[in-house]
Amino acid sequence: WGSEAHTTVGLIAQSFLLPRTQTFILSLLDSRYDGSIGAAAPWADEYRNTAEGRYSGAYHYIDTLDDPPNTCGVDLDRDCPSSHGCIVSAIANYTQRLGDESLGKDEQNKALKFLVHFLGDITQPLHASGHARGGNEVKVTFAGKHRSLHGIWDDDIPQYLLRSKYSDSITFWTQSLVDRIKANTLLTPKEEWTTCVDPDQAVRCATEWATDSNKYDCSYVYSALNDTSTDLSGEYFRNSVDIVELQVAKGGLRLAAWLNSVVTGEHGLSE
Ligand code: ADE
Ligand code: ZN
Repeated sequence: WGSEAHTTVGLIAQSFLLPRTQTFILSLLDSRYDGSIGAAAPWADEYRNTAEGRYSGAYHYIDTLDDPPNTCGVDLDRDCPSSHGCIVSAIANYTQRLGDESLGKDEQNKALKFLVHFLGDITQPLHASGHARGGNEVKVTFAGKHRSLHGIWDDDIPQYLLRSKYSDSITFWTQSLVDRIKANTLLTPKEEWTTCVDPDQAVRCATEWATDSNKYDCSYVYSALNDTSTDLSGEYFRNSVDIVELQVAKGGLRLAAWLNSVVTGEHGLSE
């Protein structure tokens, strides 16, 4: 995802954090973020573009070896090489590091910022696909502009949605998604989003999350391959909105449940 969707995932999560989790976050996060994991959520994308952060580039996705729309699926041994890792191993690693006080505050702070970002990215369907490098190599047109399929899911679709339905306000978008999470009126029931919330089983949980995202590649995302000449800001955009909103909401609720569980040892969500 781009910065809009990442920020929204963080802001949604924030509204479901338990007080103890919020206190823990406030004690770790850089003061410039003012205790807001929404504000901190895009950080890992800046970091991967620095010389120091280059190593973390592969942690943002899992390149599944599938052939959408015909075959989908995640196979961790096949798709997550131990040589450079992937989003599943990164979530497991930084979950462990977040809870390890012996590493010191700076390392726990970094682990928190990585987790807030990766629990967002793992819900972007094209971050759970290796086909054409997650759609980075698929050239498309969106609102008259030359883009990649990956880029429109990261940026253009969320931005177009924000502009057309939420007055360009991330606050409005967040509030609307929080309301619909509470009312349980998004595309799939929220109970299905948090079936795996066990930080001691992070590899298993993150593999389930990647598999869940990956199925949207076969069911919808790569339908764009059928006709690469049509501008995708029309019908393709309209049919993508329910999936994007579902996935962003899912990322937010899962992130809250995950952090609450790491901090309190219990599977709680506030209200
Ligand atoms: N680079 C290679 N594969 C990628 C993917 N699936 N998502 C983002 N960046 C990638
Ligand atoms: Zn990312």
